[in-house]
Amino acid sequence: MKTSNKILVDQSTRDDAAVYKISEDRAIIFTTDFFSPMVDDPYIFGQISATNAISDIYAMGGIPFMALNICCFSDNLPEGTIENILRGGINKANEAGTIISGGHTINDSEPKYGLAVIGEIHPEKLMTLSNAEADQDIIITKPIGNGIISTAAKNGNIEKKYLDESIAYMLELNKSASKVATKFGVKSCTDITGYGLIGHLKNLLNSSQLSCDINFLEIPILSGAKNLSSIDFWSSGAKNNKKILDSKIKWDKRITLEEKMILFDPQTSGGLLFTIDKEKSKDFINELSDNKNLFVKKIGNTIKKTNYQIKFV
Ligand code: CO
Ligand code: CO
Ligand code: CO
Repeated sequence: MKTSNKILVDQSTRDDAAVYKISEDRAIIFTTDFFSPMVDDPYIFGQISATNAISDIYAMGGIPFMALNICCFSDNLPEGTIENILRGGINKANEAGTIISGGHTINDSEPKYGLAVIGEIHPEKLMTLSNAEADQDIIITKPIGNGIISTAAKNGNIEKKYLDESIAYMLELNKSASKVATKFGVKSCTDITGYGLIGHLKNLLNSSQLSCDINFLEIPILSGAKNLSSIDFWSSGAKNNKKILDSKIKWDKRITLEEKMILFDPQTSGGLLFTIDKEKSKDFINELSDNKNLFVKKIGNTIKKTNYQIKFV
């Protein structure tokens, strides 16, 4: 139950952010995300964490404008580490047109960093999980598998080219993709983060009361993740996602366990997932692809709700 009719979106639909209507033509989007480092370089960590936090505003179709730092740091971090993390955050906030105007720090032996972000939107332009319709194409904008890469990197077990590719996508704001979606009047969207591709897709299908058919071969996967997916590099999050989400999926027999785990792999700063009417889908993909730093693919389509939720065809 929504606590007020001014709350247009809250946690009940598992959407990316909460939305508060302040007038007929304006609403505020509010979100927060923070986590511990997935890369060694503090400046890159700061950038990725900010990109990830701001993404929830873009996933709702909004324009971020202000943020606060959320910091958990210990006194014994190497000199310059905190400054570099914060500098990374400011860099990405600037790129997103967002001002970081303060924040709060506590002492914590395991460092964590992120943002609380505010954005705005016209209430009718909101993209949510519950607005998808049957017979729409499903589009994603970044390759998946960056959790496997980060885990392999932590174990010192990765070729640099794989790590660089993964980091480049994590550093890419979902700004241009969100802007194109707004232009095309897209109504349903989420970003792909902690629940992996399958989890976020399921949230959308649940909220919109739909099922879908997915073509596994069309799903963009980081080349490193294809090679490294193995029990050593499946995070507890990936295993947990599989445990919770594996029901109501009709797998194609040719899909291996290693491939399945990439679909359950929790993503950091992942891409956006949209559903859009088939007539508009080609032009939409073309325009999204103007941003050469994205990897845009149609991976399947929604159908009316049936006895399965996701079928691989
Ligand atoms: Co999100
Ligand atoms: Co989030
Ligand atoms: Co305070």
